Amino acid sequence: MNLILMGLPGAGKGTQAEMIVEKYGIPHISTGDMFRAAIKNETELGVKAKSFMDAGELVPDEVTVGIVRERLSQDDCKDGFLLDGFPRTVPQAEALEDIMGTLGKSLDYVINVNVEKEKLMERLTGRRVSPTSGKTYHVVFNPPKVEGKCDVDGSELIQRDDDKPETVKNRLEVNIEQQQPLIDFYSEKGYLRNIDGEQDIHDVFREIDELLKGLRA
Ligand code: AP5
Ligand code: MG
Repeated sequence: MNLILMGLPGAGKGTQAEMIVEKYGIPHISTGDMFRAAIKNETELGVKAKSFMDAGELVPDEVTVGIVRERLSQDDCKDGFLLDGFPRTVPQAEALEDIMGTLGKSLDYVINVNVEKEKLMERLTGRRVSPTSGKTYHVVFNPPKVEGKCDVDGSELIQRDDDKPETVKNRLEVNIEQQQPLIDFYSEKGYLRNIDGEQDIHDVFREIDELLKGLRA
């Protein structure tokens, strides 16, 4: 299954991706995670991405498309993949069509997780992540078993640099502007499936899972 998860910052893409990959065993390809790893490792890509991410802006398309092209060509993507947070602009979506055409792949669904923008600020500022396991929590909506510690490896949970209120505001504005043209693009092609992302985390997953079970049937 070849899938795209889209939604505004904080909609729950990463949270749902964790559950989808666990059940369906496909690789999770998050451009945001790839950029954060590059920044941590101080690579050339990390240097390119950092100033954009810190400002809540999008990383330029040519950089982002390049890393996705390389990642999708890897062997573990041959039986499916879950893209999280890519594409985010129509030129990225067009580039993805080209990449998939070259690789002989086709899309199944673009899963759009819908959450009203008023709810997103609270989700983002309350998010905590494990720097080692990558697992995502929320101080109110999805707390760890022991406060401040990851359930998986006990690591100290941290806040993402771009979850500070001043960056969050611009991130939301930038992404809201890009969202509708992308929704129109995939809706016209028949790939778009809307999911209510305001439900409890497990109910959101149940809705996505119903859709994906159909692909396996
Ligand atoms: P990225 O890392 O993709 O960030 P984002 O799109 O802003 O999305 P988030 O990761 O913030 O949110 P999410 O939807 O994954 O929500 P989560 O599940 O964590 O990108 C970061 C940056 O990288 C971008 O700003 C840009 O600079 C750059 N970038 C990345 N891709 C790019 C691209 N294609 N082009 C250009 N630049 C790019 O959930 C959020 C919180 O809510 C958590 O605390 C969670 O526990 C909680 N939560 C989740 N679901 C629920 C629920 N149902 N109910 C209550 N709480 C919930
Ligand atoms: Mg995410």
